[in-house]
Amino acid sequence: MALFKKRRKENNDEIKLENLNIPNHIGIIMDGNGRWAKRRGMPRTYGHKAGVDNLIELSKYANSIGVKYMTVYAFSTENWSRPKDEVSYLMYLLDSTFNRLIDTIEKDNIKMKIVGEKDKLSDQLLDVIKRMEEKTKNCTGMTLFIAFNYGSRQEIVHACKEIVNEGKEISIDEIQNHLYTKDGGDVDLLIRTSGEQRISNFMLWQISYSEIYTADTYWPDFNGDCLNKAILEYNKRDRRFGGLKK
Ligand code: IPE
Ligand code: IPE
Ligand code: MG
Repeated sequence: MALFKKRRKENNDEIKLENLNIPNHIGIIMDGNGRWAKRRGMPRTYGHKAGVDNLIELSKYANSIGVKYMTVYAFSTENWSRPKDEVSYLMYLLDSTFNRLIDTIEKDNIKMKIVGEKDKLSDQLLDVIKRMEEKTKNCTGMTLFIAFNYGSRQEIVHACKEIVNEGKEISIDEIQNHLYTKDGGDVDLLIRTSGEQRISNFMLWQISYSEIYTADTYWPDFNGDCLNKAILEYNKRDRRFGGLKK
């Protein structure tokens, strides 16, 4: 009985969000798809599919609790170094998922933006990305930035090049205003799943003052309760931004 009670206490569905401050912008490094699949004796691609299904569910949940911006790391500029079959599958997965969702996506009221380098993506993929962004551009709920073929160093260089081309002087404000995720501003809460504790070239600029939360859970299992737990932890942090404790 005591054990049962303790379990219930640890159960995240007891977390009440009403009195909590919901982070304006959450960044997620969605890691652990491969290990999730391996644990089930399945190929890595099976984990990626489960990861995408989870992303769809978690985005709806985040939108429902009032998150305004969420940026998720789906494919890094360094992920091209993976086996060809896995890379091809990830390209196929984005394409097929968008094609499957495109006619019904508007009802979720989530504005979708794909951020990253466009150069290595196929015309077919670029086309469905464009259609998806167009279809959801008037949605008024959360903005979901999907970082795909994304690298933060590349993003900063891209921003600087644009500023120079516009004949402007490089400054903190100008760089901020030329980032792919400029509308979302700084990331308040950065989550990495699967127990890893590194940044892997994700939003280096935007996470300057983020609170960092790592979960041991593999991404396909990171559900709404896990997000609640991260938000609860975020609320316990004392964000000082270089000042003194309040
Ligand atoms: C994250 O899961 C998804 C991508 C990087 C595309 P991984 O594929 O990195 O899974 P692990 O880390 O190998 O378990
Ligand atoms: C970061 O995960 C990229 C994504 C989640 C898309 P990785 O699995 O590629 O990162 P490393 O190699 O463990 O640093
Ligand atoms: Mg990984």
